Amino acid sequence: MEPSKEYLFKYKGFYFAVKNTSLEYVASLEDFEIKDSDIFLATYPKSGTVWTQNILSLIIHEGHRNGTENVSTMDRIPWLEYKSENKDYAALPLPRIFATHLPYYLVPRDLRNKRACIIYVTRNPKDVMVSYYHFSKYISTLEEVPDFNDFMERFLAGKVLASSWLDHVEGWYSHAEDFNILFLTYEEMKKDLRSAVLKICNFLGRKLSEEELDSVVRQAAFENMRKDPRANYENLPDDIVEKDKGSFLRKGTVGDWKNIMTVAQSERFDKVLKERMKTLPIKFIWDIN
Ligand code: A3P
Repeated sequence: MEPSKEYLFKYKGFYFAVKNTSLEYVASLEDFEIKDSDIFLATYPKSGTVWTQNILSLIIHEGHRNGTENVSTMDRIPWLEYKSENKDYAALPLPRIFATHLPYYLVPRDLRNKRACIIYVTRNPKDVMVSYYHFSKYISTLEEVPDFNDFMERFLAGKVLASSWLDHVEGWYSHAEDFNILFLTYEEMKKDLRSAVLKICNFLGRKLSEEELDSVVRQAAFENMRKDPRANYENLPDDIVEKDKGSFLRKGTVGDWKNIMTVAQSERFDKVLKERMKTLPIKFIWDIN
């Protein structure tokens, strides 16, 4: 089943949401002007973007406030590829932080000269897919595919926003040498959030006191983020989200795929991804089985 043109358009082989951006805008991003202090958070959707966004915000802004405490997460860490005519990115406090789902080959050209810092977060693709399925019901910029099996086939064929999970991950990992990049996984963040926060701080050259570190870890825990309307994006307008159908922070667990995928679906998924997963330049800590 092809994705509806009402929801998605393609630029250089990559699917974008019609309601978020335009072809001209995404094409312009390769010339986007980078500042050396910029930080980019790159992910395939549903891999822990909002979580890492919140952690970055806590590390960079919260300890130093700058009056940012009342500014929404989306305004402090804007989405690079979402068209935002009335926003002046040059006026953002430094360091600027951007979130993006762009594949490695569509990001601002200057990033390839190892300028700025990129953090790339990835997650077990089965959990990504399940999270994506639920998210599609909640967010109105995405086409809802009610049948899980149909959704899985679209996901495996890369006919969803951000296209193929494997292409995205493989692209970023196999071009790591071109960028100043830190790779993290959702699973390692779940296992030991404090170590993951420390890794981010070291990569960004930020030194937090023990108390500040404790505070970041505490505030970034699932239950605390869920209670924080700003971290959970509760202020998004009704034409973007259907509030009675979910929330940004849904379950926040590892292995939720086991609650929804049948054995046959899991085998089908493995069959499509496994061969190419073997060729990835790194070993992921999860077992795809
Ligand atoms: P689930 O749908 O499996 O719960 P993204 O931000 O890239 O869209 O990813 C969303 C996923 O990250 C959701 O997964 C969400 O619950 C999870 N998430 C967000 N904040 C989290 C946190 N503090 N701890 C654990 N998972 C979190």
